[in-house]
Amino acid sequence: MPLANTVSLVALAALPLSQCLSLAVPSTVPSNASDVIDQAYVGFGIEATSFHLYALDGLNGAVTNQWTQNIISGFANRTGAPVNIRVGGTSLDNARYDPSQSAALRYENTTETHTLHSKWKLGQRWLKCFGALSDTTYVLQLPFARNNKTNAVEFAKAGLDAIGSDNFDAFEIGNEPQWYYTAIYNDRNSSWSPQAYLQQWDEWAPAVLEATGLDQVEGPHFHGMTLAGKVPPEWSAPNVLDQLDNQTVKVVSQHYYQSTDGTSLQDTLMNHAFTKYRMSNFSETLDTLETNGNNIPLIFGEVGSALGGAGSADYDLNARLGAALWTVDWLLYSMTFGLKQASMQLGIAFPFAGFQPATVNSSTSPYSSPTNDTDHPGRVLGGFYGDIFVADFIGRDGELRVAELETTNNNITAYAGYSSDALRKVALVNLQLWNGTEAQGSRPTETISLDGLGEDTTKVKVQRLTGPSGMALATEISWAGQQWLTEGNGLPTTTKNDTLTLAVEGGAVDVEIKASEALLVTLL
Ligand SMILES: *[C@@H]1O[C@H](CO)[C@@H](O)[C@H](O)[C@H]1NC(C)=O
Ligand SMILES: *[C@@H]1O[C@H](CO)[C@@H](O)[C@H](O)[C@H]1NC(C)=O
Ligand SMILES: *[C@@H]1O[C@H](CO)[C@@H](O)[C@H](O)[C@H]1NC(C)=O
Ligand SMILES: *[C@@H]1O[C@H](CO)[C@@H](O)[C@H](O)[C@H]1NC(C)=O
Ligand SMILES: *[C@@H]1O[C@H](CO)[C@@H](O)[C@H](O)[C@H]1NC(C)=O
Ligand SMILES: *[C@@H]1O[C@H](CO)[C@@H](O)[C@H](O)[C@H]1NC(C)=O
Ligand SMILES: *[C@@H]1O[C@H](CO)[C@@H](O)[C@H](O)[C@H]1NC(C)=O
Ligand SMILES: *[C@@H]1O[C@H](CO)[C@@H](O)[C@H](O)[C@H]1NC(C)=O
Ligand SMILES: *[C@@H]1O[C@H](CO)[C@@H](O)[C@H](O)[C@H]1NC(C)=O
Ligand SMILES: *[C@@H]1O[C@H](CO)[C@@H](O)[C@H](O)[C@H]1NC(C)=O
Ligand SMILES: *[C@@H]1O[C@H](CO)[C@@H](O)[C@H](O)[C@H]1NC(C)=O
Ligand SMILES: *[C@@H]1O[C@H](CO)[C@@H](O)[C@H](O)[C@H]1NC(C)=O
Repeated sequence: MPLANTVSLVALAALPLSQCLSLAVPSTVPSNASDVIDQAYVGFGIEATSFHLYALDGLNGAVTNQWTQNIISGFANRTGAPVNIRVGGTSLDNARYDPSQSAALRYENTTETHTLHSKWKLGQRWLKCFGALSDTTYVLQLPFARNNKTNAVEFAKAGLDAIGSDNFDAFEIGNEPQWYYTAIYNDRNSSWSPQAYLQQWDEWAPAVLEATGLDQVEGPHFHGMTLAGKVPPEWSAPNVLDQLDNQTVKVVSQHYYQSTDGTSLQDTLMNHAFTKYRMSNFSETLDTLETNGNNIPLIFGEVGSALGGAGSADYDLNARLGAALWTVDWLLYSMTFGLKQASMQLGIAFPFAGFQPATVNSSTSPYSSPTNDTDHPGRVLGGFYGDIFVADFIGRDGELRVAELETTNNNITAYAGYSSDALRKVALVNLQLWNGTEAQGSRPTETISLDGLGEDTTKVKVQRLTGPSGMALATEISWAGQQWLTEGNGLPTTTKNDTLTLAVEGGAVDVEIKASEALLVTLL
């Protein structure tokens, strides 16, 4: 709102910068809204070499990791749907299943420095992970880089048995196959190409279906392509996508990391224009899949805020409130863009992981540093708060449609949520980074005048995703007054009362949003 003109210029300079933005919210579903959003839209992906650390308790225990279970059940509670988990990644592509090995994981070369591309053997304890967690469905990748079809088929059978047909969603064949013949990887020879991939696919998929008995179960059972984000044009060409058969391929899956470690939060994550620019690379794929008659949806099977290089782990970029705000903005934007699901990638040492339940080595210090990824107890990281916000935005009714609303402020994004054609909620994200230092002055606040909420609406509830600054770590971030703290064992603790109920008059209400905050406004 405009400041009262009695305020002196001196006082004005000391006040937080307050501005006003008007937003007319369409009261019925606009034509640019998404299709109905899957309640399991916010899924997770677990890097295979971390799976046992997420699912089981301790390094050698065989019981459920209760921290993970509580987090998962919390999501299922909010959306009313089991949480979809894709188990895979570069590590699973380099595994070999060994039914005679009882340990979860054994590297083949014990003296080398292990990377995601190291060869390893996967044993019985790893397969136990599927049965340990409930409220889940699974997408299981099969190892393809190692090019052992017999082994992959054995693994598919054992994997499906461990998952159970009720909780099985799909298989994938391999991970990011466009990298199989590159300067650093030698998984195939120089004749590797999309055509070679499709040819092998046509040998592997039927073998898997037959061995697992899924050939007797109607519908497609695979996620296809599983390409890394920067897709060379020949891999996303229409003639490749046109060859995917919707009897076999349920969805096309691609991977997405918006930024790279070492970049600026404000420039690459808290920046909606950059998000749209990065996502524009997928328009052509989406258009092809929509117009070629096969009607195969596009999902992102691996998603993270930023990828590291050479072992970097940029917690400043990935694990702060700013990354949570990116998560909210990106997830809601991706729904309006036309995606059908997003698996937020988890790994025990990934700074972009929403949560890390395990203590890699608990025998040493307690929670010494929130940015220390070598030895810590269960914890959520910044991005988690974006996931949970969006799970609440989706809600339980199974009818949500989302429309992005244009605003006149580049830093503020807005999304309206509809159920059965009626406006139900509005998400507002203020992506202006306020880092809490004196150099930045006091925290700017924007007043947003929402209009069009309907004459019958008398009240709204305003829930807040916030923290002391955009640089806040998970221990200081809260969503709707709740925090997920180490001692909470994956369950929330109410630490604040910052949810408001505001009166609506003539379909209009003013809400205040600070720099580096997101709000969920729900019509009551
Ligand atoms: C799920 O919701 C029920 C009912 O509200 C609640 O009792 C339970 O604690 C919730 N579980 C989790 C893991 O959030
Ligand atoms: C294992 O890794 C070490 C260190 O990189 C290397 O010197 C050795 O040749 C590897 N062993 C095998 C069997 O590949
Ligand atoms: C391929 O897998 C089969 C079955 O697990 C195994 O017997 C065989 O040794 C593997 N081949 C190679 C080259 O690793
Ligand atoms: C590359 O691998 C394929 C499949 O295994 C094989 O048929 C082909 O001969 C190999 N080409 C070269 C150049 O080694
Ligand atoms: C789109 O993909 C191409 C090909 O990998 C890449 O060169 C380009 O940087 C990408 N553009 C964006 C906006 O990410
Ligand atoms: C599957 O693809 C075929 C061939 O393009 C198409 O005719 C059919 O409508 C598609 N099926 C579905 C369910 O979209
Ligand atoms: C944990 O760390 C301690 C102290 O460094 C070490 O003795 C122990 O072997 C480690 N345990 C595991 C399972 O790595
Ligand atoms: C990380 O944790 C380890 C083990 O507790 C400790 O030795 C190390 O000093 C910690 N590093 C930082 C940066 O806190
Ligand atoms: C979508 O359409 C609505 C209604 O016309 C409009 O208010 C909104 O700004 C549009 N969104 C975008 C991103 O153009
Ligand atoms: C958006 O945020 C940037 C970076 O903090 C700031 O410089 C700019 O003034 C903001 N724009 C508006 C309209 O508030
Ligand atoms: C905070 O922002 C100010 C002004 O934009 C900048 O000078 C300072 O380096 C930033 N500090 C941190 C810790 O990000
Ligand atoms: C939260 O604060 C409001 C006043 O701002 C009060 O009406 C409400 O009862 C409080 N709720 C709880 C759970 O303490």
